[in-house]
Amino acid sequence: MAVITEIEDLRKIYKRRVPKMFYDYAESGSWTEQTFRENSSDFDLIKLRQRIAMDMDNRSTKTTMVGQEVAMPVALAPVGLTGMQHADGEIKAAKAAEKFGVPYTLSTMSICSIEDVAAHTSAPFWFQVYTLKDDDFMKRLFDRAKEAKCSALVITVDLQLLGQRHRDLKNGLSAPPKLTPASVANMMTKIPWGLEMLGTKRRFFGNIVGHAKGVTDPSSLSSWTAEAFDQSLDWERIKQFRSWWDGPVILKGILDPEDAKMALNVGADAIVCSNHGGRQLDGALSSIRMLPQIMDAVGDKIEVHLDSGIRSGQDVLKAVALGAKGTMIGRAYTYGLGAMGEAGVTKALEVIHKELDLSMGLCGCQSVEDLDPSNLLIPEDFATRWQASV
Ligand code: GLV
Repeated sequence: MAVITEIEDLRKIYKRRVPKMFYDYAESGSWTEQTFRENSSDFDLIKLRQRIAMDMDNRSTKTTMVGQEVAMPVALAPVGLTGMQHADGEIKAAKAAEKFGVPYTLSTMSICSIEDVAAHTSAPFWFQVYTLKDDDFMKRLFDRAKEAKCSALVITVDLQLLGQRHRDLKNGLSAPPKLTPASVANMMTKIPWGLEMLGTKRRFFGNIVGHAKGVTDPSSLSSWTAEAFDQSLDWERIKQFRSWWDGPVILKGILDPEDAKMALNVGADAIVCSNHGGRQLDGALSSIRMLPQIMDAVGDKIEVHLDSGIRSGQDVLKAVALGAKGTMIGRAYTYGLGAMGEAGVTKALEVIHKELDLSMGLCGCQSVEDLDPSNLLIPEDFATRWQASV
């Protein structure tokens, strides 16, 4: 078996193993994919400051996220259609996260349902919701998440509309996949994936099919989002959602300091500085570039997490050194899942943990709690090059 040393190794195996339609779903950004690319390439602009002859023994990557102990400042982000990347994918990813000691976030757009994931895991997981129009469906989702003992609610606030991802349209993305000559021809080359899929009954959107009313085509992400998502969302409505959940609420998809202040006002416990992995507003700045401004605006008042672009432990280190209390990885674990199921998610976590632990030591730090901007070398205009004229 190939020796896996980095997340990119997992991506290559994943690409070979999973049908193009699902690989492309994960690996796309919207429109030109500029933001998708810059989420990662902007991390490369930040350098690490090497130190020597400092005590690098007894290192610890442990910390907390929304008051919960984590083995490292990394949570698994909500990823739609995870159960199409590998049979029973959400259950497998949740199990790997539980064993590793990091939070798993189940997406509303998952294949395995909330109940199914809860029945196959013992650590509480986080549950993600979108801002939908249908109050009854929203309330039922909240109740189901409570029943399943979810320990935090992640509200995605940057998807009132779906950004256009060209590849999904060209591939006719759906779950389960529609059988067209192109999709069948491609799936014929993915036999192990197909055999595993045939061995599970979980092939539909488990939280939606049979639960949401008036959905014309429950297999299509784009038709569901167009019909069900609240384009007129405002902060009052977000406040209402907040009041329906009595545990920690994390607002995911904040990229502007003004929005970060609003998130604070509605009583969120944490925000995720995120541009949805470059899948929404193409042309937006990368999350890591926006993080310093968000930290300046609210960093001393609310926990800030960072998502979008993380492919290594060094990336985690950079985000934490800039002030993030934690990070979220989406694609990095999806590659592992598609490549090798639960073992692949574990491998992705191990790779990131090792990179974080060793790089932290080489920067002269024993604990993630000790990381701060002095561990980084940052281009002078990194956070100020592009300014909004407000
Ligand atoms: C869903 O949130 C997606 O980005 O596809």
